Amino acid sequence: MRLLFCGDIVGRGAREAVASAVPRLRRELALDFVVANGENAAHGFGITEANCAELYAGGIDVITTGNHVWDRREIMAYIGGDPRLLRPLNLPRGAPGAGFGIYPLADGRTVMVVNAMARLYMDAIDDPFAALDELLGEHPLGTVAAILVDFHGEASSEKAAMGYFCDGRVSAVLGTHCHVPTADHRVLPKGTAYMTDVGMCGDYESVIGMAKAPAIARFVTKLPGERLEVASGEATLCGAVIETDDATGLAVAIWPLRLGGKLDPALPRPPFAATRR
Ligand SMILES: [Fe+2]
Ligand SMILES: [Fe+2]
Repeated sequence: MRLLFCGDIVGRGAREAVASAVPRLRRELALDFVVANGENAAHGFGITEANCAELYAGGIDVITTGNHVWDRREIMAYIGGDPRLLRPLNLPRGAPGAGFGIYPLADGRTVMVVNAMARLYMDAIDDPFAALDELLGEHPLGTVAAILVDFHGEASSEKAAMGYFCDGRVSAVLGTHCHVPTADHRVLPKGTAYMTDVGMCGDYESVIGMAKAPAIARFVTKLPGERLEVASGEATLCGAVIETDDATGLAVAIWPLRLGGKLDPALPRPPFAATRR
């Protein structure tokens, strides 16, 4: 199975870049399933029902989120009725929506997508390792054809730990939240594809997606200052493509994907000569 995962979509420009590129990528890369993190889709903060509809129409199958999930409060009333929009699995009991879903492909294979959130330098929430362990006990690989985990977190150490904690039990552990792609994409020893952060979909001529001057002023003055605005230059679509073995559900390969905007492009192209196990 071939999966594309796109990192945090920041604002309208990134939504439009994703919606224009993904249908073509689905064809050219023969993608079976596409997941994107949408926690910053609504002008950098949160996501709305309209944003979800726009991303689904643009070829996204499932949307994950993170610490910004409730920034647009109206999404709390919406998320329970949309199983394709996930919030972090390890939020306190009673949070609306779900932290994972099991989705059928047209050919009958199923994909489980999990959205978990880290704790180091983040809000104190429930233990993501215990939450993953319990979930994978209930839905191990084999009961589903592939499992993709979006691990939303700040610290590379915690994300690496989650990668190895899940190694051999899921198809991929892919990091989000830092909005900058890392160069450590690889298949771990027991067959889980891993990348500490896949980067954002957004304008990189910015401070992690936000216009530079107000973001710099916050650091320089330590005052709240003016409201952060999404940077309006051309977005780079950042993500990773994973190929799994249908017999095991484990990863065969992972390739970084960067398209458009300021970053050097990276695109898996057949015969896909990147990291192979
Ligand atoms: Fe984000
Ligand atoms: Fe985040």
